Amino acid sequence: MVDKKAKISFQEKNIEVPIIEGTMGKPAIDARKLDQKGFLSYDPGFTSTASCSSAITYVDGENSTLLYRGYPIEQLAEHCDFLDVAYLLFNGELPKPLAKEKYQGIINSHNLLHDQINNIYRGYRRDAHPMAVMIGVVGSMSAFYFDDMNINNLKHRRQSAYRLLAKMPTIAAWSYTYSLGLPFIYPKYDVGYGDNFLNMMFSVPNKPYQVNPVLSKAFEKILILHADHEQNASTSTVRLVGSTGANPFACIASGIASLWGPAHGGANEATLKMLSEIKNESRIGDYIKRAKDKDDDFRLMGFGHRVYRNHDPRAEIMKKTCHDILDELGLNNEPLFKLANTLERIALEDEYFIEKKLYPNVDFYSGIVMRALGIPNSMFTAVFALARTAGWIAHWNEMMTSAENKIGRPRQIYTGKTRRNL
Ligand code: ACO
Repeated sequence: MVDKKAKISFQEKNIEVPIIEGTMGKPAIDARKLDQKGFLSYDPGFTSTASCSSAITYVDGENSTLLYRGYPIEQLAEHCDFLDVAYLLFNGELPKPLAKEKYQGIINSHNLLHDQINNIYRGYRRDAHPMAVMIGVVGSMSAFYFDDMNINNLKHRRQSAYRLLAKMPTIAAWSYTYSLGLPFIYPKYDVGYGDNFLNMMFSVPNKPYQVNPVLSKAFEKILILHADHEQNASTSTVRLVGSTGANPFACIASGIASLWGPAHGGANEATLKMLSEIKNESRIGDYIKRAKDKDDDFRLMGFGHRVYRNHDPRAEIMKKTCHDILDELGLNNEPLFKLANTLERIALEDEYFIEKKLYPNVDFYSGIVMRALGIPNSMFTAVFALARTAGWIAHWNEMMTSAENKIGRPRQIYTGKTRRNL
């Protein structure tokens, strides 16, 4: 590798800092030794900061590219199921048929929850948000799996990863059925990952439930598209908490908490809420006006992205899936979908959105697809969380093996009072 350096000059100081380059993407100024040279770097929101090096996911916002372990998201969404992708994210390669069968068997053998966890659910109010319940239940799993776990041992980390991935659909589905006062439906051993979740969500003991294969495929796509997105807020949260050596279930609970916010994973729920509020096309203009008004904190939900300054490749796939699902269900004239289409068109023609490069993100359409699948609004972010668990555990594992791993501890520019006496 060529030894490249950047020069920083300030007042009397002239320093050289190394440049780090990955296999793709922008080069970075190595700021690790800046402190010793009398400087800090300042970057609230980490808009220009690479917090780690990672070989898992590559996002190129300018060219609308998303690769998991080098594979384009479009190809993965077309040819793989979610477990293929979860395996790929963690292990670096897609599973061969035998390995896939074994992996599926391991995941399905871990999908039950400790019976004592049923009691944890019963401590919640019935109207609690599923994300609030999930944070609590996943966090409390650290009280069930701790004494035989050494997070520096790959075998133990794998075991935690299996448990998390396998149990998440059960945890998420039960947070919904609990809110309805319905009995918990147990996961099955011989059913696919997504179908197991749908079955636990929608079947009841007194009525058979059959998962429609078209809907099942669409659901797998939602999971694949949301499985990872490099150092987003929730993944960075998992890494930061993990950097302290915390229990992995506690790390993932922190990721769920971070995902919940409307600026991140909560955007799918917020988009549907916004569309229901807009109600009809004649009111779109008012909402666009509000979104552009500096004195109004309203934002067009499902629009904009920190990294994609061109279109979000996941949004394209989701939009197509949305069409397929509405076709299958005969819901082409579904008013919310028509409203979403018109809103998208008007926003994309608007100078403000063009100039600020604000395009629909994956969550603009994923909410409509989930609604068509019968998943209630309050569960949208929970579905996102179960998909993103695949990414979180892959990043946590990668971080634990990295020689660069250090406790995450940002610095600050102090703007308070200078020293004074009482
Ligand atoms: N509606 C109206 N204006 C917007 C929107 C929006 N959705 N998003 C950004 N802007 C404006 C901002 O007001 C800002 O304007 P200014 O330059 O005049 O101050 C400019 O565009 C840049 O926005 P920032 O907030 O600086 O961009 P940032 O990268 O910090 O935020 C974010 C990205 C949080 C996604 C933002 O676009 C947003 O809030 N979108 C709506 C929520 C959403 O859909 N989130 C989902 C993200 S995708 C995901 O998590 C899967």
